[in-house]
Amino acid sequence: MSISDAFTTGLPKAELHVHLEGTLEPELKLELARRNGIDIGQSSVEEVRATYEFDSLTSFLAVYYPAMEVLRTEQDFHDLAAAYFRRAAADGVRHVEAFFDPQAHTSRGVPIADVILGYARAAREAAEVGVHAQLILCFLRDHSAESAVETLAAALPYSEHIIGVGLDSDERDNPPEKFAEVFRTAREHGLRLTMHCDIDQVGSIDNIRTVLREIGVERIDHGTNIVEDPALLAEAIERGIGFTTCPISNSFVTNDMKASEIVQLLRAGARVMLNSDDPAYFGGYVAANYRALAEHAGLTREDLAQLATNSFDASWLTDEEKARYKAEVEAFVAADSESTT
Ligand code: ADE
Ligand code: ZN
Repeated sequence: MSISDAFTTGLPKAELHVHLEGTLEPELKLELARRNGIDIGQSSVEEVRATYEFDSLTSFLAVYYPAMEVLRTEQDFHDLAAAYFRRAAADGVRHVEAFFDPQAHTSRGVPIADVILGYARAAREAAEVGVHAQLILCFLRDHSAESAVETLAAALPYSEHIIGVGLDSDERDNPPEKFAEVFRTAREHGLRLTMHCDIDQVGSIDNIRTVLREIGVERIDHGTNIVEDPALLAEAIERGIGFTTCPISNSFVTNDMKASEIVQLLRAGARVMLNSDDPAYFGGYVAANYRALAEHAGLTREDLAQLATNSFDASWLTDEEKARYKAEVEAFVAADSESTT
């Protein structure tokens, strides 16, 4: 029996892999361009959408960073995040740990305080739409290690607004060990650790090994190439490492949703869950990712409930909070079973 949209949308879930800058919808981009008096070269939603064109991580990032020029003020960052939190609430998201890229803004002269405080204000207000939201500061791996160290130092006065640090942007020639020191410092300041290990990169499996054994992350963003090394996968499962996978995003940057790898992780008992990554660019928020994988891989409602449970288990909530949200998942599935039998 096919799974209803009401189920995928209503299923309580955590989203652990979404880039706030990746939620910039064409409508808001045009509004912010107008607000800030910036000529972006397009004047309609269709024209902006037509620029959202790519077939690899590199070509995606070449569109993604220039689009951020419309983000200038604390209010702009607030409005971007607030729009995403509202959209996430409509997809059954109860808890978010959202990435942001301060260097993409400070490198254009935007004060880091405006970035963090704008996002943090929206995160606080997200409670009004039933979403508990926290922020993860990502370093850009195609910038220098020194720039990451400086960014962390500049962000530390605002660390009450940040739950952890991540690493994103172009993985090619930018292996995790380049950032070992800044991640060590972040950990010493009580921040949680995650890193992108993007799909089918040169050296993917070596990078995954380094991230697990040398950096000591709690989660890997994407990371599905771990299925190439069963012993490493067994180690990750034993340690309860989270895998924040993004099926629709995968199908844009590699032509393949990586459904069989994601399902392999699920069946092996890994803490894998589904996320939207950059939904304004890839055209699917988190519930659409649950729907896409379910249809593609023939998943059951129980499988989707397990993914949702994993999303809370892999989060950085307290054990008490995790238990509360996982009980919501159970109650939702039980109520859905009653209504369909
Ligand atoms: N920045 C935004 N989305 C990303 C992704 N999927 N991989 C690396 N960097 C990113
Ligand atoms: Zn990502």
